[in-house]
Amino acid sequence: MEAILSQRKHMASALAAYGKLVWQAMITTIRHYQPSDQPAVLDISAGTAFFGDPVEAFLDDRRLYNDAFARYYTEYETSLVWVADSPDGLVGFLFGCVDTSSQVNQWRKYIISKVLVRAIEGKYRLGRRTSNFAFGMLAGMVRGEETKIDLKEYPAHLQIDVQMGYRGEGVGRRLIEAYLDQLRQNHVCGVHLQTTNHNEAACHLYEKIGFMLLDERHNRFWTSMLSIEVKNRSYGLKLRQSGDLYYD
Ligand SMILES: CC(C)(COP(=O)(O)OP(=O)(O)OC[C@H]1O[C@@H](n2cnc3c(N)ncnc32)[C@H](O)[C@@H]1OP(=O)(O)O)[C@@H](O)C(=O)NCCC(=O)NCCS
Repeated sequence: MEAILSQRKHMASALAAYGKLVWQAMITTIRHYQPSDQPAVLDISAGTAFFGDPVEAFLDDRRLYNDAFARYYTEYETSLVWVADSPDGLVGFLFGCVDTSSQVNQWRKYIISKVLVRAIEGKYRLGRRTSNFAFGMLAGMVRGEETKIDLKEYPAHLQIDVQMGYRGEGVGRRLIEAYLDQLRQNHVCGVHLQTTNHNEAACHLYEKIGFMLLDERHNRFWTSMLSIEVKNRSYGLKLRQSGDLYYD
């Protein structure tokens, strides 16, 4: 009798948790980014940067992470940023970009003119974690660990993060679908993204949506940090023939 009661209790709490997830997903809206969203977006970005956990696992100062990797999108690619808005506030975002080649050039200028200058002025806490990370990334580039992507085939890219407690409810899928609709409306021929094999939920979601694995390379920095084999991955999705205009 006790076993049956505890089984029922277990089922009831599982159902309640599932109901809560469905309800949360229903009341979360996917919308375009507004400038007033910037603090919340940067907060989620830094809070999920380490395979879904906070960036402080590998960097001393989250302002440096946001300035180097996130702020660019919220200032220069605003029409391609999507957010997931719930009654608790923002719970996820997607950074988009339709022309990765020019974005890379613009981003490099941004890093040199803003982030490096701020670092030299002592605006960031720069400790051992930061130097290990910077050295690890540079060494990875020298070793050829960066995945290759044909930017003619896949000129657009995306980055996505959903806050812990709101994952697995379809928010990520809805953010990606909103962005893909926008890319299709703008006649973009293909989109890519970069991740690792260790972002399991992310890889599962990308593959379900139809992204194909383009390249995979061993990442020595994350492998030694996590003590499991981590591989950089790039995925691509064709939206139309690559001879077509990608933004008109
Ligand atoms: C990856 C991420 C953006 C996906 O957003 P999400 O709202 O959780 O995704 P969804 O709920 O729309 O879909 C996730 C899919 O993965 C599945 N999934 C969830 N957790 C999983 C896990 N740990 N392993 C494998 N699949 C998982 C879900 O069941 C769903 O698949 P289904 O449709 O077959 O059920 C989000 O989980 C996240 O931010 N994770 C941490 C940071 C990260 O990895 N960001 C991506 C960097 S490239």
